[in-house]
Amino acid sequence: MERKLNAASLQKIDEIVAKHRGKAGPVKLMLHDVQRELGYIPVEAMEKIAEASGVSPAEVYGVVTFYTQFTTQPKGKHVINVCLGTACYVKNSQALVDKAIELTGANINKTSDDGLFSVDATRCLGACGLAPVCIIDGRTIGNATPQKVAEEIAAIRAAEQAEAAEA
Ligand code: FES
Repeated sequence: MERKLNAASLQKIDEIVAKHRGKAGPVKLMLHDVQRELGYIPVEAMEKIAEASGVSPAEVYGVVTFYTQFTTQPKGKHVINVCLGTACYVKNSQALVDKAIELTGANINKTSDDGLFSVDATRCLGACGLAPVCIIDGRTIGNATPQKVAEEIAAIRAAEQAEAAEA
């Protein structure tokens, strides 16, 4: 696994480990805090949590992979959630996933190599009346089509290019 954490992230992990050290059943609590603070669980955090809790890094890794709320990869700058719940699935939300993957280069539940996009498949988002539904950067898009997803991604890319040109 890759190691490239900055000092601020490492310090945050140390604070979280110190806060829970010596308490009962701390592994999941520490993981939860690291996930919330950093958005993912880097390998350095697993090692520190293992050391502080007296369990092996493999056991901590097992917990991370068991619970879907934990991820070992940083999220992309822009997150595309596509609902694959039943109501959305029967309205072909898979086509939205396919289009997002095709245009971003991110694999399902992964982040693109350029770090710009994550494409996540989710369960029912509670908006079945709007199926198929996706959420792009926190905005819910109902009755979504591959075309709409393509437009949203193009708009994000255009905004990113404009931002880069200004910098
Ligand atoms: S199944 Fe997609 S919002 Fe409910």
